[in-house]
Amino acid sequence: MSLDQDLFIIIMNFLLETLQVLFMSLVYSLEALIRLFIPTRKKNVSGEIVLLTGAGSGIGRLMALEFARLGARLVLWDINEDGNKETALMIKETHGARAYTYTCDCSDREEVYRIANQVKREVGDITILINNAGIVTGKKFLESPDSLVEKSMEVNSLAHFWTYKAFLPAMIAANHGHLVSIASSAGLIGVNGLADYCASKFAAVGFAESMALELLAMGCDGVKTTIVCPFFINTGMFDGANTKWPRIMPILEPEYACRKIVDAVRKDQVYLYIPRSIYIAIAMKNLLPTKMGVLLGEYLGAFNFMAKFKGHGNKSK
Ligand SMILES: NC(=O)c1ccc[n+]([C@@H]2O[C@H](COP(=O)([O-])OP(=O)(O)OC[C@H]3O[C@@H](n4cnc5c(N)ncnc54)[C@H](O)[C@@H]3O)[C@@H](O)[C@H]2O)c1
Repeated sequence: MSLDQDLFIIIMNFLLETLQVLFMSLVYSLEALIRLFIPTRKKNVSGEIVLLTGAGSGIGRLMALEFARLGARLVLWDINEDGNKETALMIKETHGARAYTYTCDCSDREEVYRIANQVKREVGDITILINNAGIVTGKKFLESPDSLVEKSMEVNSLAHFWTYKAFLPAMIAANHGHLVSIASSAGLIGVNGLADYCASKFAAVGFAESMALELLAMGCDGVKTTIVCPFFINTGMFDGANTKWPRIMPILEPEYACRKIVDAVRKDQVYLYIPRSIYIAIAMKNLLPTKMGVLLGEYLGAFNFMAKFKGHGNKSK
């Protein structure tokens, strides 16, 4: 083949691929537009085996109750045995269903693998994995004890590696499952006073996003991913944290956050940012000149979110 022919084939391939991408972009944009007006069908989660880490309080507990209401079988993990058992009792009393409780420090890799094997023997393969357990140091970085900084990374992000390693192979084998990462808006944008927390949540978002692509690349389209990035939720974890403009950036009610998350999972929605203003904040961060972004951040109160933070203490070891 001559050099001219080679060049012709390269140019034709380039044009064909580009046309295909343009056409599919149009199709996907139209699909997204239609979805704005026609609600997406929610999948049935009845009979699914849902594992929630951090199920002993906050939105973990609420999500457990909601999935139980929808007929899913619940596996509850928490480092706090009492809180976890309380959630199981609430599920029994409200929905008459049995939830399986396991006391597990999900930052401890060996413990995760050991208890995961126990779950597989006693309950079966997990089909919906919700990495929800989280902690926050809530101090300026230079005042944060090294042990807490490390623990934040271990609970908020590294733990996700170990639960994926434990439960993802069975999902891939069945080409069926759902991976849910309860990250944070602090995993999309840096926050003054939350350096280690932001780093751990950025890691959680990056990990879940990359794994979703890895699954798609291997043709495993039956295992879905949902990445959740909420602003502050009124669970106690961020007690004292404040918002300057509650109408634009409201502190979310836990029941609302839980409802949005469960809906997003049932619609196979990949990204959920709540409230909606987070979508605008992230777009602005990426589009605006840096100094303007900082100015707007200051205007929205981002420098003082954590000024009066109290939290409810770390229950983790
Ligand atoms: N509350 C908020 O403002 C907010 C905002 C954005 C994201 N989030 C995220 O949502 C998730 C749930 O938060 P929440 O507000 O319900 O907090 P929460 O403190 O009420 O619940 C966290 C749960 O995780 C458990 N946990 C902590 N360390 C653990 C460990 N090592 N192993 C197992 N379990 C452990 C705790 O015992 C607790 O039951 C967290 O990942 C948090 O980072 C919370």
